[in-house]
Amino acid sequence: MTKDEFETLLVHGGYSADEKSYGALTTPIYQTATYRQGEIGTLPEFDYSRSANPTRGTLERQIALLEEGSHGYAFSSGMAAITAILLLFGSGDEILIPRDLYGGSYRLLDVHFKNFGLTWRIVDTTDAARLDDEFSPNTKAILLESPTNPLLRVSDIAAVSSAAHRHGALVIADNTFLSPYLQRPLTLGADIVVHSATKYIGGHNDVLAGLVALKDDDLAERLLMIQKSSGGVLGPFDSYLLIRGLKTLALRMDRETQSATEIARWLQGHPGADRVFYPGLEDDIGYAVNARQADGAGGLLSFELSERYSLPAFFAALSVITPAESLGSVESMACHPATMSHASVPPETRAEMGISDRLIRLAIGIEGLSSLKEDLERAFDAARIEP
Ligand SMILES: Cc1ncc(COP(=O)(O)O)c(C=O)c1O
Repeated sequence: MTKDEFETLLVHGGYSADEKSYGALTTPIYQTATYRQGEIGTLPEFDYSRSANPTRGTLERQIALLEEGSHGYAFSSGMAAITAILLLFGSGDEILIPRDLYGGSYRLLDVHFKNFGLTWRIVDTTDAARLDDEFSPNTKAILLESPTNPLLRVSDIAAVSSAAHRHGALVIADNTFLSPYLQRPLTLGADIVVHSATKYIGGHNDVLAGLVALKDDDLAERLLMIQKSSGGVLGPFDSYLLIRGLKTLALRMDRETQSATEIARWLQGHPGADRVFYPGLEDDIGYAVNARQADGAGGLLSFELSERYSLPAFFAALSVITPAESLGSVESMACHPATMSHASVPPETRAEMGISDRLIRLAIGIEGLSSLKEDLERAFDAARIEP
């Protein structure tokens, strides 16, 4: 798909719901739990909104189109989507995960799915050449993030997918950080794509949502049944908010990527930042692979605050950038992974993952670049510990 075609799909893809009635230009919100049924015994297209809803259906068709898949599903959060995907597996199955998987996904496996006999193991997905040795007969899937959260490590999705397929395992790609505008894992060999659509797809910090896209009809059939049975579906109004958010995805991501690149370069030369992690920097370890498989590095970057600066003072002094857990919105946010997104990961595991207590993750929004840099500079000044 060309960039141009993709941008047009963002505005028009999936929508045909109202063609028959009033000709509304935007997708109507079918705020209904159930539907009047016709002749008894004939199966209507819509019978109950846990199974299907026209507004949600538009969004589900659109995510399938945008990810170049054939089937799409919308859930009430990213975690509800990941839970539904994990329900495809059973007792005795093993899932491989990267070192710095999103803390909530890690907790879901470690605290909850463990009780049902689904096991997990950490592997280095950035080293696809050595992945072959990691599979056991019980390995059924790799849950991949590229770039990862919060260290922005890049994995070669095509190489990981080839390795997984050699061993009969599926690749589930969490594409939250780049969105389908910048990266489409199904075209690189992944089997299932999942999003916390709360982030870039929604784009405005006003909705929690999860989206899934895939190509395989059998898998899709099973996931549809899980969605219907477990019921963590996205409501009609929230589906509408995502459809609206998607219309500006390309514009937002272009701006956020451009500003994040500038800020990453600027931080590299700043005495307050010891290490900068951003796959859009030419000297970043993931730069080449990311440049090959994605159309940009996105709006997220992380850095380690130097010991000569107070971490609490740095966060307290920010005023344009909001200290907050999330990312992917028009507002810039700063996250302290050790106490926020990865607080549920035990400190030893965090250290093993390479997440230092001085790591700060910035999710760059669409504010003016100078305001963002000035805000960071003010925070560095306020946080500097006098010798
Ligand atoms: C990479 C990633 N996946 C999944 C999730 C979970 O999504 P949600 O918060 O929408 O449930 C998050 C949330 O931060 C995330 O960053």
